[in-house]
Amino acid sequence: MLRICLRKNGSYSRPLFAERFNRLLSTHQTERKLQDKVALITGAASGIGKATATKFINNGAKVIIADIQQQLGQETAKELGPNATFITCDVTKESDISNAVDFAISEYKQLDIMYNNAGIPCKSPPSIVNLDLALFDKVMAINVRAVMAGIKHAARVMIPRGTGSILCTASVTGVMGGMAQHTYSVSKFAVIGIVKSMASELCKHGIRVNCISPFAIPTPFVMGEMNQIYPHLDSRRLVDVVHNVGVLNGANCEPNDIANAALYLASDDARYVSGHNLVVDGGFTSFKSLEFPAPDQVQ
Ligand SMILES: NC(=O)c1ccc[n+]([C@@H]2O[C@H](COP(=O)([O-])OP(=O)(O)OC[C@H]3O[C@@H](n4cnc5c(N)ncnc54)[C@H](O)[C@@H]3O)[C@@H](O)[C@H]2O)c1
Repeated sequence: MLRICLRKNGSYSRPLFAERFNRLLSTHQTERKLQDKVALITGAASGIGKATATKFINNGAKVIIADIQQQLGQETAKELGPNATFITCDVTKESDISNAVDFAISEYKQLDIMYNNAGIPCKSPPSIVNLDLALFDKVMAINVRAVMAGIKHAARVMIPRGTGSILCTASVTGVMGGMAQHTYSVSKFAVIGIVKSMASELCKHGIRVNCISPFAIPTPFVMGEMNQIYPHLDSRRLVDVVHNVGVLNGANCEPNDIANAALYLASDDARYVSGHNLVVDGGFTSFKSLEFPAPDQVQ
């Protein structure tokens, strides 16, 4: 809070006031954790990526939204204002990722943060005996191969500068088995492995590599699947169904929770954190309950 410095006669000292005012302003500026940083976020036209782009911009960053959805991506960039730029990018094409990274350099002369966030769900049959390998390859191309390509091209421009923060979106389904179809789950286990392997090399260059594992969030990604499973429910009920699977009383997992995790990992607050998987799940994957029957239910 700003306290005005009063002289004995009741007037305030202008230099002292100005000094205090400037100090207050600079405090606000240090709260902008990504001031003058440049971030490239894949899959930022909606959901987690969009929430993160918003958070990064509010913290002083310039953000390049790289997404396959051209119209939505452009609308998102417009909505986020002059510090957001859209570039069309299909992450399954290495040339598109390479172009997006080069765009960051030509537009802003640097790339500080690369967030490999784009991903797709997998609507495959649940049993391994029915595994659809063509679908497996498609999911891997986006959820895994594109993450490798994103890190490859980010490293290309970050290594010469000796600094950078690379993020990826994994999932709780890559922390424990049994929470999603095998193909999707395996793809997210791979992301967590990629982060550890890449961190081992890139630490020598001052580049940190981390991932975030979100719990279920009713973004378009999840709502599409939920609509197919529960076609008789309206979207409000579907959101409730998603939220009700969480274990933390009093809170639901929202895109902004992941954006907060991304802000931490991208910023200097996490300057000594690398190779880490930040699980944002309200404790869900930390425990299992032993559901013993009540004594009067056992003979
Ligand atoms: N929503 C959840 O419950 C949840 C939980 C854990 C992890 N995740 C992960 O979070 C990430 C973001 O998903 P979301 O929930 O925000 O969903 P979303 O559908 O809102 O966003 C995904 C974005 O990725 C883009 N995209 C898809 N394919 C692409 C491609 N080939 N090239 C470029 N962009 C592409 C889409 O256009 C979309 O804008 C994904 O990696 C997903 O696996 C989501």
